[in-house]
Amino acid sequence: MANKVTKIGVLTSGGDAPGMNAAIRAVVRACSFYKLECIGIQEGYDGLINNKLVPLDARSVRNIVNKGGTFLKTARSEEFKTVEGRKKAYDNLTASGVDSLVVIGGDGSFTGAMKLAEEFDFPVIGIPGTIDNDINGTDYTIGYDTALNTVVEAIDKIRDTASSHNRLFFIEVMGRDAGDIALNAGIGAGAEEILIPEEDLGVERLLESLQRSRKSGKSSSIIVVAEGDRLGENIFELSEYVKNHTEGYDIRVSVLGHIQRGGAPSCFDRVLASKLGVGAVESLIKGKRDVMIGIVHKRVTLVPLQVALTKRLHKHDDLIRVADITST
Ligand code: ADP
Ligand code: F6P
Repeated sequence: MANKVTKIGVLTSGGDAPGMNAAIRAVVRACSFYKLECIGIQEGYDGLINNKLVPLDARSVRNIVNKGGTFLKTARSEEFKTVEGRKKAYDNLTASGVDSLVVIGGDGSFTGAMKLAEEFDFPVIGIPGTIDNDINGTDYTIGYDTALNTVVEAIDKIRDTASSHNRLFFIEVMGRDAGDIALNAGIGAGAEEILIPEEDLGVERLLESLQRSRKSGKSSSIIVVAEGDRLGENIFELSEYVKNHTEGYDIRVSVLGHIQRGGAPSCFDRVLASKLGVGAVESLIKGKRDVMIGIVHKRVTLVPLQVALTKRLHKHDDLIRVADITST
């Protein structure tokens, strides 16, 4: 028989993502709905170690559903990577009467949550919040849709100047290990080539593709590069190489950077965050623990944290084919 849940802690950890506020709000409001106490932990795992715990009620989360970032703040905590750090965190949780923890973050945050669960038998549930969409066991992570729209809007603007000057632009987007942002935004914004970590395009194919584009009458081009792509590891060096191995291209580089992590969440992200936040509290009440709550084929789904942390068997083949055809 599962222990009764009475007081739920919630924190955001790792890289922030638009929609994290909506997820916190949903957790807090669900606690209020089910007459449970809710404690917000500021600054991720660092806040747990340093006892930055604040009681939250339904009114504490007003006017945040539409805000980017995370009002609880987030952090990357080196101390939490040590067992001593996690012991301090556990002691603070139990001293304040918190009996289960909702962690909103990416795979690093889930690794930390899993260790806390295993070492101290403490119930945790993960909500996937990262713009990278790189978590196994969910079709979408909170923040990804907003980031995609931000990237497409930025590339549309760059296209205006690229075509006015007949230029070739290399545009770097986020995605340390995953090409989801690059591939989808690249297709949506009509890129000529898209470089992603999961596929090795090879520089020769890139050069051939640019030559083909030229011959087919294109006067400007957009190449989208995920930051984790091997070929585009240093986008400035790659653009220099292309400049030295092609003729007639006036080349510019644009690194979109952290604008991709900010801004008001899209409606999709707000709804996703709301569903997962409510689902997380309801799952804890039902005695589920050490799982991640995600969305698969539009259904809210639970997977063990261990599964969420395994590498995605994610094939981008269909999208790559579409990108190849639509960029001819
Ligand atoms: P994300 O959750 O977005 O992937 P990080 O990889 O930076 O972001 O992880 C966020 C935090 O999770 C780290 O700063 C650390 O506190 C915790 N964490 C990451 N990896 C581990 C680990 N192996 N053991 C314990 N905690 C970890
Ligand atoms: O949130 C994930 C991510 O956006 C990665 O794509 C990127 O490499 C990383 O965060 C950069 O984060 P920071 O600048 O906070 O270290």
